[in-house]
This record gives sequence, structure tokens and C-alpha cells, in this order.
Amino acid sequence: MIPASVIEDLKFRNSIEDVISSYVTLQRSGANLKGLCPFHSEKSPSFTVYTGDGHYYCFGCGAGGDVITFVMRMENLDYRASLDFLAQRCGVTLPDEDKQEKGGVSRTRVLEMNKTAARFFHKMLYTDEGSPGREYFMKRRLSGSTVKHFGLGYAPNSYDSLKRYLTDKGFTEEEMVAGYLCQRSRKNEKHIYDCFRNRVMFPIIDVAGNVVAFGGRVLDDSQPKYLNSADTPAFKKSRNLFALNYAKNSSEGSLILCEGYMDVIALHAAGFTNAVATLGTAITAEQARIMKKYTDKVVICYDSDEAGQKAADKAMRLLSEVDIAVRVLRIPGAKDPDEYIKNFGALQFREVLDNSKTPFDYKIFQVKSKYDMNDAEQKVRGAKELCRSIANIPSRVERDIYIKKVADALELSLESVKGEVASTLRRKNNERKKDERAELLRNTARLGDRVDPDFAKEKRSGSLEGAVLGMMLYRPEFIKLEREKDLLSPDCFYSELNRRLYVKMCEMQESGGFEFGLLAESFKIEEIGAFEAMIKKRRELSNNSEAAFLETVAELKREAERIKGRAEGEDLSDLIARRRLEKKDQ
Ligand code: GTP
Ligand code: MN
Repeated sequence: MIPASVIEDLKFRNSIEDVISSYVTLQRSGANLKGLCPFHSEKSPSFTVYTGDGHYYCFGCGAGGDVITFVMRMENLDYRASLDFLAQRCGVTLPDEDKQEKGGVSRTRVLEMNKTAARFFHKMLYTDEGSPGREYFMKRRLSGSTVKHFGLGYAPNSYDSLKRYLTDKGFTEEEMVAGYLCQRSRKNEKHIYDCFRNRVMFPIIDVAGNVVAFGGRVLDDSQPKYLNSADTPAFKKSRNLFALNYAKNSSEGSLILCEGYMDVIALHAAGFTNAVATLGTAITAEQARIMKKYTDKVVICYDSDEAGQKAADKAMRLLSEVDIAVRVLRIPGAKDPDEYIKNFGALQFREVLDNSKTPFDYKIFQVKSKYDMNDAEQKVRGAKELCRSIANIPSRVERDIYIKKVADALELSLESVKGEVASTLRRKNNERKKDERAELLRNTARLGDRVDPDFAKEKRSGSLEGAVLGMMLYRPEFIKLEREKDLLSPDCFYSELNRRLYVKMCEMQESGGFEFGLLAESFKIEEIGAFEAMIKKRRELSNNSEAAFLETVAELKREAERIKGRAEGEDLSDLIARRRLEKKDQ
């Protein structure tokens, strides 16, 4: 478990206002901030950020919590991953928990080992054993200096070359397995062998200059073409980009996003040192945000096949979401940028680059090549598809510009395109209104019951429990007070959820102190929302004094006694009824 003090520090460095405003436009409203809830669709803001104590709550859908639960919801991450996300965001390193998970292997050791392995792979290129690798790079027309620049290498065709080398350098088998350089044999668990064999090697280097992973390519057409390191203590695929260590220093003022390592290498060699690639996966929201740190403009330069074009659509969306100006590049007459540069040269590529399309022009282009514009029916379908895209654009001015574009490109009258967009908009609006109403109803009616089914059964106890816990959450010094005076016990709480919260609070108080951020480790995200609702109630009431707290606690205890008494009473009447039946039987 991460200690409360570390969580506190993390929350201090990632102010809730900062983090949330990178997803939601917030406006000041009194002491707080308000915006449209990112977790359900709405038109008037019911999402509030309480900057004073670092919480948020949406009274429309009941989402609530602190910056940690916000990230969990928003980025769809688990507790630990959202801590890592926040740590990365503010540039701190969390205490190494991997030590237990990965059998005592730390990030530092994996990084040292990777550096050693990268040297080994690179040196191999200049030996007899490495001639297949050398020949492969020659065939791909990579110069010696490019090979050096990227630290490319060759993993020999052997089961234990690297293993022996790393053993000599003092690394343990456990470390080699944890770092994904070796793997255990399935037949004999004790035996380990090299993961990368007879492959050319591409070291993945992070922006701090660490070798965090490797990609290895086969020398022929066999499958799988690439083998990439799995996530290790040193590496998460979704958080790194190939060649960003160089591209971040480029003076182009933009980044070129490619699909393949070889594309990036060819571009850098041709002078486009701002090229990067994802690591064998589609681009993630995290990678989009990382790119945003270095630039406001990205040119997507994916393969010209269908898969590449699909991937480009996703990249456009993710990059636009973080406010990056996106351009898409079509490479005519080649399957990928690498091939294009080989066939047509760097100058020609510069020209294509300067003529890259905006996402909407690209969309028009796609539609025009997907549908036959000489066939009336197909043309209508294409036009409708474009109008639907236009209807998704919130700005009226932008919509007008695109309406004109579509009319021109498809040779349609301005009026008819305008009309089609307007009716699409109306339809969408109606649907959205219906959805919103239904969702609001759903949420307000059942939210509480779903998260805490016991509430409905004992409403009076439920509200007293909520009041006591709400005060303790709102003013954690009450948790300390309650523990010192030993006022309550778990069986004062009728609701199972409330009881769990109470027990957890006591546990925290006894070990390092209460910290709201730690709750997300043990409770579901909806449950945290319910706790936030308790806090919200207290915030709105003025009476949260110690006297009020003690009084509510006393009342809760009386209520708990009453419920217990009643339960015993029921037992007694059950007993009497049974006796009567027994007597009858005799
Ligand atoms: P070349 O075929 O040598 O030109 O490689 P490339 O880098 O251009 O690769 P390609 O366009 O075929 O694929 C793009 C990227 O997807 C590669 O750089 C890899 O990161 C990844 N990739 C391709 N094939 C595989 C595979 O079989 N397995 C995995 N894990 N990743 C792959
Ligand atoms: Mn390629």
C-alpha cells in the first residue's frame, strides 16, 4: 500500500483544478468551479469542483471524489495506474511497489540491464555472428551512422548469447525474466532462454535517455514480424513513443506520427527529425497528451492501406481532443513513408508534407474515394456521411465553412447541403434531449439504491449514518476524535457500505492517518461517489461543529440500539410462535 503521506503529496502537486480543466472547461461560480459533467451528457453544468478541499461532485449523475478518482474515471484506470498517471504528470517517482510484484526487481536494475543489452546487440553487428543483421540493414539502405544514431543491433541466432553476457555482467535470471529479455522454458521452469533471437533490434529510448524496451524484427517474411518487450517495471507501451527522445529537440515545431520504426528511421535519416511512432499499438490518449507537451501540431503519416487509414481516424480524434492541430498526410504511390522516401526522395516528401490535409479535407477525400461520385445513389450516401460529420462540429462558423467545402467538392448546391446538415442537427438534438431526460431520471431515481441498497430499508439510520460519516469525511479531525473517545463501533452502522467505510476510516486513523485518496483502493468508484454525496450535504449545511457531531453520533447510537432491540423482539415473537406450533403438534 502507498502511504497516505505520498498520496497527499501527489494531490498537492496535481491540483484538482489543473487536472480537471485539461478535460473540462470550468467557470468560476462563487468559491467553486463549475462545468459540464464529463461523465454524462448535459447542457447546463451540474459538475462542481470544490477547489478548497480538492473534491468534485456532479449532482446530475452522482460522480464524485478527489483528483485520484477523477483520473480513474476519466482515463479508465485502476487505482494504482491512476497514481502512476498523476506521478508522471508532475514528474515524481512513486515508491517501487514492483519489488514484490516482479520478484524483487526494480526499475533501476531493469534500466541498467537494458543499457547493457543494447550495447551487446549493437556490438554484435560488427562481428561475424552479426553479419545477417548487418546485411539486413544494408538491404534496407540504412547508413552506418543511422544505425549508430539509433543504437540499432542484432540478436544472434542462439538461445543463450544474451543470457550468458548478462550473467557475466552480474545480472540475475530473475532480472532477465522481469525485464522481458529472457523467458522461462515451459518444459523446464528452471531453464531460461533469450526472447530475441535472430532479429534486428530497435532499442526504445525514453525522453530521459533510458533504454526502456526493445522491438525486434525478423530478417525475412516470417511471423510475428516484430517482437516487442511486454510491459516491464521500466516500461509501459502506452506511455512511450519511438524516437521522441530525438524528436523533442527538433526545431520543426511539429511532430510527424508514423506507424513503424522503419518509417521513423527513414524520416530521421532524410532530415525529418521530428518523426515518432507508437510501439506496435494504436495511439492512446496518454500518448496524445505526451505529444501535446512538446507540440501543438502533429502530421499523421500512416500506411496507405485500409488498416493505416482506420488507425489515422483514431489518431485524428485523440489528438484533436487534446487540442493539437492535426494534419493528415497521404503518400501517393507508396505503401508507407519509408518506401516513399526511397522512391521519391526527401525533397518530394517535404512537398507532400507541406500539402498535408486538414482532417475535414481528408474526410472529403476519403468519401470521394469510397463512393462512386458518378452514381447518384452512392453520391447521396457520401454526402450524407459528410453532413453527419459536419453536424458533430459545435461551432456554427466552422460548420458553414465545411458546408461550402462539401458543396464544392461534391458539386452540390449550397442550399441542399445546408438543408441536410440542419435536419441532421435537429434529429441529433431531439435524440440527445431524450437521452438526457432518461438518464437523469435513471440516475436520480436509483443511484442511491444501487450503491447502498440498505439505505432504503432503514431510512432513519441511513441518514444518521450518512450525517456522521459525512462530517468525518468533511472534517477528518472528527475521525481522530471518534477514535480517541471510542464513540462508535461497526455495528452502529446498519448499512453494509457505511460499515465498511467506518471500519476503513478507523484502520487508516490507526496507521498513518486518514486520506480520502486512499479510499479508492478499497471501494468501487460509485461508492466513492456516494461518499462524496455525504460530504456535499455537509458542505451545504452550516452546522458541522464538534457539538453537532457528538450529538449526531449519540442519536445514531440510539437508533442502532432501537434497531437491535427490534430485531431481538422479532426473534422473541418468532420463538413464541414456534412454541405454539410445537404445542399444537403434540
Ligand atoms: P518494415 O516492414 O520493416 O518496413 O517495418 P515497419 O516498421 O514499417 O512496420 P509495419 O508498418 O509493418 O508495422 C508498423 C509497426 O507495427 C511496427 O513498427 C511495429 O511496431 C508494429 N508491428 C508490426 N508487425 C508486428 C507484429 O507482428 N507484432 C507486433 N507486436 N508488432 C508489430
Ligand atoms: Mn514499412
